[in-house]
Amino acid sequence: MKQAIHFPSGQSVLNLGQGTWRLGEDQSQHNQEVDAIRTGIEKGLTLIDTAEMYGEGKSEQLVGEAIKPYNRENLFLISKVYPHNAGEQNIFDACDGTLKRLGVEYLDMYLLHWPGSVPLQETVDCFEDLKRQGKIRNWGVSNFDLEDMQNLLSLRNGENCQTNQVLYHMASRGIEVVLRDYLRENNIPIMAYCPIIGQEPELKDKVYHSPTVKQIADTHRISIIQLLLAFVMQQDNTIAIPKAGSADHVSQNVDVFDIQLSEEELALLDEAFPAPEKRIPLRVQ
Ligand SMILES: NC(=O)c1ccc[n+]([C@@H]2O[C@H](COP(=O)([O-])OP(=O)(O)OC[C@H]3O[C@@H](n4cnc5c(N)ncnc54)[C@H](OP(=O)(O)O)[C@@H]3O)[C@@H](O)[C@H]2O)c1
Repeated sequence: MKQAIHFPSGQSVLNLGQGTWRLGEDQSQHNQEVDAIRTGIEKGLTLIDTAEMYGEGKSEQLVGEAIKPYNRENLFLISKVYPHNAGEQNIFDACDGTLKRLGVEYLDMYLLHWPGSVPLQETVDCFEDLKRQGKIRNWGVSNFDLEDMQNLLSLRNGENCQTNQVLYHMASRGIEVVLRDYLRENNIPIMAYCPIIGQEPELKDKVYHSPTVKQIADTHRISIIQLLLAFVMQQDNTIAIPKAGSADHVSQNVDVFDIQLSEEELALLDEAFPAPEKRIPLRVQ
């Protein structure tokens, strides 16, 4: 289901973007991966998520090459800073490195990849400096659990946080207990990573063997991967960022814009893959 997601800054994006972890690392896949990202952009997936960590810059480099033919203003580029680089000593060089690899002059969003040991107020102050310098439009965080978010929002300019990028998929729904409500109350969209279960073969197996999942996928004539994506994209306030390494996979993912699950189907999926009853620590990958 296609939805527009609005950030507190006023920027808006579609609820489906492109993840890029592990892209750019295998030279033999280079052309296919560039083609995958370009196919996504041409089909409307202008939000691209990368990080300095991914292949130690190789993902950013690949994205940089893929986006060359396009108007920068029509893209929504997100990268992430390592926690150990997220203080005044390193963040400005780290951001410059990211911009250089991407071949652009600014990021639409810069995220702290996970909570680290640099005082969070220092990171927020640096993000605000980068905004003033025009190197980033906005900033957010990733892998922040409830207490991390509460701490962040108590800081000077903490309310300028635009998103929390967290692990979320149909078979891992811990954020639905407390964290998601907290983000919603504070008007902060969720960016769901691993929306099609990433590299967790056991969980994938469980989903693939579920008769409920098979029946609903068959009804819509879609694959189980597409059903997983439809589930995440139908949540409110949520942007899914699957990684796809081929144009074919990207196109299948884009087709999910046209899928709408009924209330009854969502209830059946709730029964088959319920959210936990009590709060559990945030899962990370
Ligand atoms: N903030 C964080 O800490 C964090 C952590 C993990 C991930 N992320 C971000 O979130 C993105 C997504 O997470 P992820 O890459 O771990 O997992 P994911 O998107 O859930 O799964 C990626 C896997 O799904 C496959 N796939 C994609 N489309 C498909 C299709 N239509 N049919 C069949 N298979 C398909 C991909 O294979 P192919 O490559 O063969 O297409 C790849 O093996 C990452 O790329 C990254 O940008 C962020």
